Amino acid sequence: MTRALATIDRAAFAHNLARVKTLAPGRQVFAAIKADGYGHGAVTAAHALADAAGFAVSSLEEALQLRWAGIRQTVVTLSQPLDDEACALAAEHAITPVVFEDAQLPALARHRGPVLRVWVKIDSGMHRLGFSADKAAAIEQRLAAIEAVEQIGWMTHLGCADDVEHPLTRQQLACFAAATDGRSGRQSIANSAGILAWPDSHADTVRPGIMLYGSSPMLDQSAADYDLRPVMHLTAPLISRRRLAGGEPIGYGASWFTPEAMDVGVIGIGYGDGYPRHVPNGTPVLINGRIAPLVGRVSMDMITVDLRDVPDAAVGDRATLWGPGLPADDVAKAAETIAYELFCRLTQRVRFEVI
Ligand SMILES: Cc1ncc(COP(=O)(O)O)c(C=O)c1O
Repeated sequence: MTRALATIDRAAFAHNLARVKTLAPGRQVFAAIKADGYGHGAVTAAHALADAAGFAVSSLEEALQLRWAGIRQTVVTLSQPLDDEACALAAEHAITPVVFEDAQLPALARHRGPVLRVWVKIDSGMHRLGFSADKAAAIEQRLAAIEAVEQIGWMTHLGCADDVEHPLTRQQLACFAAATDGRSGRQSIANSAGILAWPDSHADTVRPGIMLYGSSPMLDQSAADYDLRPVMHLTAPLISRRRLAGGEPIGYGASWFTPEAMDVGVIGIGYGDGYPRHVPNGTPVLINGRIAPLVGRVSMDMITVDLRDVPDAAVGDRATLWGPGLPADDVAKAAETIAYELFCRLTQRVRFEVI
C-alpha cells in the first residue's frame, strides 16, 4: 500500500487558469511555476497549464528543465543572477531573464550572439529586488545601447496585496505608473492577490502562482470564495487503530493524554515526508469525510489522530492531509505558515501521481 501520495489533478489546474482568465480578461498570463511548480512538479504544471502564454521560474536551471521537457512558451527567470555563461545559455534557449540589479549589466553588455530578451524590474516599494523608480530612464537607455539585448517589458512585485486594507499596494501602483509613464514595452504587476483583489494591478501581463494551485493568497478569503480548486490531494493510509484507556500519553514527549477511553489512529506520514512537525493538537486531518484531529507530536514517519468522530475508520483507509474537503490553507493556518510552504517542502519520499 502506498504511503504518502500526492495526487495532482490536471483538470483543477486548467480550471484555476480559466479563473485567472475570467478575473483578468484579455491579459497575457505568465504562470509562476518556480520551486518545482510550488512542489507540484514544474513540468506537470507546465503541461497542465498549456494555455498560459508563459511561465515564471526563479532560475536558469528551472527554466532549462522546462525547455528540456519541450516547453515552448516564454519562460522568464525572476531572480537569476547574470554572468557571461548565464546570458549565453538564456539566449541560446530563448529564456527571458528579469534584470533587477546593476551587477547584471556588465554581462549583458558583453553578450553577443542570439538576441537576449529581458524584462526590467522596478522596486515600487517592496524593497526586495528591482531598480528604484528614478533609475527607470537610465536603465532603459543602458539596455537600448546593447545591440544583442532587447527589453520586452517592465515589471514590479506587490508586497502586501494579500491585505485589501494595506496602503502599500496603492503606493506601489502609483510608483510603478510614474516609473513607466511614457515608456514602451509590456507591463506586469499582479501576483495572485493582485489578480483577485486589485484590478488596477492587472496591467497587460499577470503572474499568478498560488491561485493556480487552488489556494488563496488573501488574508480573509478562502480559495472556495474565489471558486479555486485544490490541485494537490495529499493522502496517507491509516496504518493502525487502537483503543486506549483514559489518561494515557500519546507519542514523543507524552505531550497529549487521552481525556477518556478512546480510539486513536496512526497515519503513515510524518515530517520525513514534509508534513509540518510543529502543528498543534487539533490540526485537522480528514478520514472518510470527517475530521480526525491530530493529537500528540508529529514524528518522522507517523502522526496520531483522535478517531472519536470517525468510528468507521479502518486500517487501510486513506486520510487526507490536505486537498479536496480539507484546504491546505486551513492546515497552513494551524501550522502558522502558508500553503506555499506546505507544498514546497514535501520530500522525495512522497509518491506523486498525475490524474
Ligand atoms: C515576482 C513574482 N511574481 C509572481 C509570483 C506569484 O505569486 P503568488 O504565488 O502569490 O501568486 C511570485 C511568487 O512569489 C513572484 O516572486
